[in-house]
Amino acid sequence: MEQFLWNSIDDLYEDLLIPDGEHFEQLQSVAEEKGVPAIAVSKLQGRFLYLIVKMLGAKKILEIGTLAGFSSICMAQGLQEDGKLISLEIDESFAELARLNFEQAGVSHKIDVMNAPALQSLEHLRQQSGEPFDLIFIDADKVNNPHYFNYALKLSKAGTVIIADNVVRQGDILKDNTDDMSVQGIREFNKMIANNDRVEATTLQTVGSKGYDGLMLIRVKV
Ligand code: DHB
Ligand code: MG
Repeated sequence: MEQFLWNSIDDLYEDLLIPDGEHFEQLQSVAEEKGVPAIAVSKLQGRFLYLIVKMLGAKKILEIGTLAGFSSICMAQGLQEDGKLISLEIDESFAELARLNFEQAGVSHKIDVMNAPALQSLEHLRQQSGEPFDLIFIDADKVNNPHYFNYALKLSKAGTVIIADNVVRQGDILKDNTDDMSVQGIREFNKMIANNDRVEATTLQTVGSKGYDGLMLIRVKV
């Protein structure tokens, strides 16, 4: 019953607020046909990311976990023409499909996909020591979230916003003695956020077509 209601409300607001909703539906169904897991951000969540990019006036974005590139497209659409998104994806077939999707969506000139294990790409980016990122979206395997957060901080400046997806996981995050490695990764990540003076953060619990989950919104202070 609850899931049915959440889906209906998502449908209502998608119809009201998302002008190119059908395009995203098409992307999702092609991705699923090609075996990409159906764990992309929802259309409304993608719209949230798009708005954050615009509200920040972000010029440089890092995404950890591309999948088929749905969230990447949303964020790239919010970027100005001279903005850049770097998206990290370990899976070659996902990266390939994402690049096709970026072409179709007319945002490929704004996105670079690095097809390698994310920690490898992050170390590469750290060594390059380019301009810090304005926005970092952490949405890959949850086991490595603590490492992703450490690198995110190294690639940040005062004012950088970090968003981490899936910090609630249907409430599984409360289970203390779980052998779910994803939950353990997020619990460790949570401790790091709580104990780090460089950041301030909040969590928004979410319901919708993706069930019950949540995201953490983090701001780098210094
Ligand atoms: C999973 C991963 C995600 O990024 C997500 O949004 C939902 C689920 C997962 O691995 O289960
Ligand atoms: Mg996610």
